[in-house]
Amino acid sequence: MNKEQNIKVTTSHTSPLPHREGPGESLESPHHTSPLPHREGPGVGLESPVIELQNVKRYFQVGSETVKALRGVSFKIYEGEFVTIQGTSGSGKSTLLNQLGCLDTPTSGEYYLDGISVRTMSKTQRAHLRNRKIGFVFQNYNLLAKTTAVENVELPLMYNSEVSAKERRERAVRALQAVGLGDRLEHKSNQMSGGQMQRVAIARALVNDPAVLLADEATGNLDTRTSFEMLVLFQELYRQGHTIIFVTHNPEIAEYSSRNINLRDGKIREDTINHNIKSAAEALAALPKPVDD
Ligand SMILES: Nc1ncnc2c1ncn2[C@@H]1O[C@H](COP(=O)(O)OP(=O)(O)OP(=O)(O)O)[C@@H](O)[C@H]1O
Ligand SMILES: [Mg+2]
Repeated sequence: MNKEQNIKVTTSHTSPLPHREGPGESLESPHHTSPLPHREGPGVGLESPVIELQNVKRYFQVGSETVKALRGVSFKIYEGEFVTIQGTSGSGKSTLLNQLGCLDTPTSGEYYLDGISVRTMSKTQRAHLRNRKIGFVFQNYNLLAKTTAVENVELPLMYNSEVSAKERRERAVRALQAVGLGDRLEHKSNQMSGGQMQRVAIARALVNDPAVLLADEATGNLDTRTSFEMLVLFQELYRQGHTIIFVTHNPEIAEYSSRNINLRDGKIREDTINHNIKSAAEALAALPKPVDD
């Protein structure tokens, strides 16, 4: 048995994640139960944005037709913001997320990630940047099926030669503890519920301590209760200073984030700061108890 397996685990969701240094830190609320801190987003402070889009367009050529999925999108996202990108089906959300995640390149416009122009990079440089700066949470989890939780979470660190096997395991265990799965380290993906798999996916996204956490419909496949549990977790990550971009078709979710960007027909219709962030924990507590409880 290796040493790491003896690490004391906790099922608490409040255990600390590896913190990012930065302006978000000082705004942290020391209290788990206190209201969410309100962070002023765009244009406040002297910090530079984690993400900056300048008039990004993405056109697709389908036969003789040009589909304008993004028609000129500009925004800045600062460290510590919890941004929902909301819009109806076909409004361009996934296309936008693919730009932000460096999975696709715009037809025109500029994208700066942590101050670096993504357009000018080679494919290899982009892949490297993606691995180091971005944590993805996909709708279908994208976990390896017959692989344990801790092995799944270790994956992104495999490409990082600066991290030893021992450190890799320790960081994976910490990330799983932080999402409340300290007691499921050795469970395989097919031995877990949807909500647990989503937590593994979130732990995997966080293990590299990314500059930004990108989630595409992270509550899309889950029942109401599990969706709220997931929102509680995202709010905790927000409180800890993580920068989160959460794509959803569901307008209700915007009430739990600090800022909402509403997309329509590939353009920003509205970009609003939420001054009254609802507590997902309270919403969860107010849900009717499951019948078999
Ligand atoms: N690879 C592609 N080739 C051609 N058209 C595309 C491609 N990807 C997206 N589109 C088109 O771009 C528009 C935006 O698509 P996108 O997938 O970004 O929407 P969405 O907001 O994510 O929708 P949903 O909520 O249904 O996931 C749609 O009209 C879509 O048909
Ligand atoms: Mg989509």
